[in-house]
Amino acid sequence: MRIVSIGGGPAGLYFSLLMKKADPGHDITVVERNRADDTFGFGVVFSDATLESFAEADRESYAEITGNFAHWDAIDIHYRGEVLTSRGHGFAGIARQRLLDILQRRCAELGVRVEYQTEVGDLAAYADADLVVGADGVNSVVRGRHAGEFQPHVDWRPNKFVWLGTTFPFDAFTFLFKASEHGLWRVHAYRYDASTSTFILETTEPTWRRAGLDQADEDRTLAFVELLFADELRGHRLLKNRSFWRSFPTVKNAAWHHKNIVLLGDAAHTAHFSIGSGTKLAIEDAIALARALQRGGEVEKALADYEEDRRPEVERLQRAAQVSLGWFEEMERYHGRLEPIQFAMSLLTRSLRVTHENLKTRDSRFVAEVDRWFAGRAEQQARAPVGGARTPPPMFTPFRLREMVLSNRVVVSPMCQYSAEDGTPNDWHLVNLGSRAVGGAALVIAEMTDVSREGRITPGCTGMYRPEHQAAWKRIVDFVHAASAAQVALQLAHAGRKGSTRRLWEGMDEPLPEGNWPLVSASALPYLPHSQMPKAMDRSDMDAVREEFVRAARMAEQAGFDMLELHMAHGYLLASFISPLTNVRRDEYGGTLENRARYPLEVFDAVRSVWPAAKPMSVKISATDWAEGGLDADDAVGFARRLREHGCDIITVSTGQTVPDQKPVYGRLYQTPFSDRIRHEADVPTMTVGNIASYDDVNSILTAGRADLCVLARGHLYDPYWTRHAAYEQGWDLPWPDQYVSVKGFTPRED
Ligand SMILES: Cc1cc2nc3c(=O)[nH]c(=O)nc-3n(C[C@H](O)[C@H](O)[C@H](O)COP(=O)(O)OP(=O)(O)OC[C@H]3O[C@@H](n4cnc5c(N)ncnc54)[C@H](O)[C@@H]3O)c2cc1C
Ligand SMILES: Cc1cc2nc3c(=O)[nH]c(=O)nc-3n(C[C@H](O)[C@H](O)[C@H](O)COP(=O)(O)O)c2cc1C
Repeated sequence: MRIVSIGGGPAGLYFSLLMKKADPGHDITVVERNRADDTFGFGVVFSDATLESFAEADRESYAEITGNFAHWDAIDIHYRGEVLTSRGHGFAGIARQRLLDILQRRCAELGVRVEYQTEVGDLAAYADADLVVGADGVNSVVRGRHAGEFQPHVDWRPNKFVWLGTTFPFDAFTFLFKASEHGLWRVHAYRYDASTSTFILETTEPTWRRAGLDQADEDRTLAFVELLFADELRGHRLLKNRSFWRSFPTVKNAAWHHKNIVLLGDAAHTAHFSIGSGTKLAIEDAIALARALQRGGEVEKALADYEEDRRPEVERLQRAAQVSLGWFEEMERYHGRLEPIQFAMSLLTRSLRVTHENLKTRDSRFVAEVDRWFAGRAEQQARAPVGGARTPPPMFTPFRLREMVLSNRVVVSPMCQYSAEDGTPNDWHLVNLGSRAVGGAALVIAEMTDVSREGRITPGCTGMYRPEHQAAWKRIVDFVHAASAAQVALQLAHAGRKGSTRRLWEGMDEPLPEGNWPLVSASALPYLPHSQMPKAMDRSDMDAVREEFVRAARMAEQAGFDMLELHMAHGYLLASFISPLTNVRRDEYGGTLENRARYPLEVFDAVRSVWPAAKPMSVKISATDWAEGGLDADDAVGFARRLREHGCDIITVSTGQTVPDQKPVYGRLYQTPFSDRIRHEADVPTMTVGNIASYDDVNSILTAGRADLCVLARGHLYDPYWTRHAAYEQGWDLPWPDQYVSVKGFTPRED
């Protein structure tokens, strides 16, 4: 086979040596614009796990690479004058130049031809090759020449960074955070040989400009950074090597191959340096491509196999890298606000993939310290003892809202059961909520319960507008209080334009075939094109609905609920005022966020004024509409701030369901970043909800300060005893009801 690799970086060289090693008959040329010893940058870093695949692919280069490694296992975080250390991370660094030397030598040994100082501008010269490999890095010419086929997408990130070196031998992977009169600076530093370290400085563009670095050449940059970090560098110098300020591009391509041309490494995809995986991905691509080709058969088929094999792993890493780079872009939010140990947890778990449990396996001492700190804070906040001889897992610490004290941090999310008759809850609701309260969650929120008959979503929705409703709810609340330690809340709502529809299992959001009732909303816009047209509320409608909320709140108090949640999410009536997609009013209730928030806040104030001062209130919001022109996270922070000022105790942060053509980005804990942002920027406690699936998720979220309470919906449908089972797995003793004490002698068998 005649193979040409455009680019002699890690991807091009490693792929070429693997192919030549597999079949010396291949004719392989690497075309590289630089000289052999001419490289940008300083060191690269690999995790221990990555190295195993290198060993399998080529023992010789593996032995040489690892022989040149600087190893470390600790991460040091310098923050507000303290240094926090987390161990057990297992990294190794090597100079990029050393790595390239090793790969170049190995290529030469095997007979790969490398043409240095050859700039490729046009692919015509390689038209007769059997395979053309685009391993030409982030600004790939190969990708550019076939942009129509590869469909690249390049997302230029807003932060500025510069890649420097230093003679200071950092003995851990080190993050430095420092505030100056210009703003906040972040450094990612690690040693890659006995006496040299990589030193990447990153900051926001406004800080960079305020410091005059937009006008600085390499020498001025060096002088500025040496002065700023004089204490940390302890007299050591910084080193430059084409150290220009850059912005990071996240590169993606819809396709990685076209006919006999294929993209590898940075040409195909990039992952932010804060998760240090660019070279690892490049080499793993090379291994996967070589393996696919060595299976024989058509080249095009092998390229398709390579892409199919690699894409899921690469996309997973890119998603983690995206969350990680977001943390660094927005960390002004945490700096100075979080105590050092929580700041460290927030940093270490930033990609939402390293968790409380992972960290415990790596460094149990560090996590024990985190848990002790967290329990101490919880004890102070709740004014309640955490209990037990040992420090509780974070999820089993108390939390106070006004006079209501929750015994742990797990909440059952409100979930419509569509099983009521004209609004009256029945035995299904008693068993549904009762069993989840016995299951150990500290707070059970009863389903969306409507303040009027016309405010229901479906004929099966529960209500709080007739005396029978109050009595039926009281029976359930009394049971929860008698049978468990759980508190119980009611979620009050009006369905607005999403009302008069079928039950979930009969066609969610679809209009009823018959027996419809009239709808109201912020504006006269139907939900689906074929949904009923709602009436835009006039002032008398607004007065009437507000009074219905007040009536329902009074009834909820009589029924004995401990807390009220107002539903201002998911496109229902109050949410329809907040989103610009559903509110196109021209009066004082439409237009600016101030105006759109006016009516929901009026309802909140009216309910708050009749709800007992000792009992808390929460509001559930959609923090983004996931739609063009809709509500975004900035608006959500603004709205949350107003809610806090009006006396809202905690905000449940959900997203979407405002419009049917939303484009949500789902994933692990996908709504938690919104909770994190609102909690810190609006300075209000939050409950996070959405794809929380393990006790480790809960402990990670809490200790990193991303929310105060964790809410599970489907997790609790799957397992009503979710909290009890989480306690068992963590060895935490959660008292059982008297009727069930004999379970103490029972051990579930795992086989
Ligand atoms: C600040 C920073 C820090 C990083 N830190 C790490 C880290 O710690 N760990 C890690 O794993 N990765 C790190 N990376 C990423 C890493 O550098 C890349 O992901 C990795 O080098 C990708 O390898 P590659 O072979 O695909 O591309 P490259 O290494 O970019 O190689 C491409 C090669 O193609 C050549 N070339 C380009 N165009 C042409 C042309 N037209 N004609 C001829 N030759 C051409 C280039 O000269 C280059 O040698 C970092 C990146 C940055 C920016
Ligand atoms: C069957 C069902 C009914 C729901 N009903 C409500 C509701 O009444 N009120 C509400 O705010 N959210 C409701 N939701 C949304 C959940 O409360 C929660 O926000 C969402 O399911 C995400 O959490 P999860 O990933 O843990 O399921 C419902 C979800 C389900 C699955």
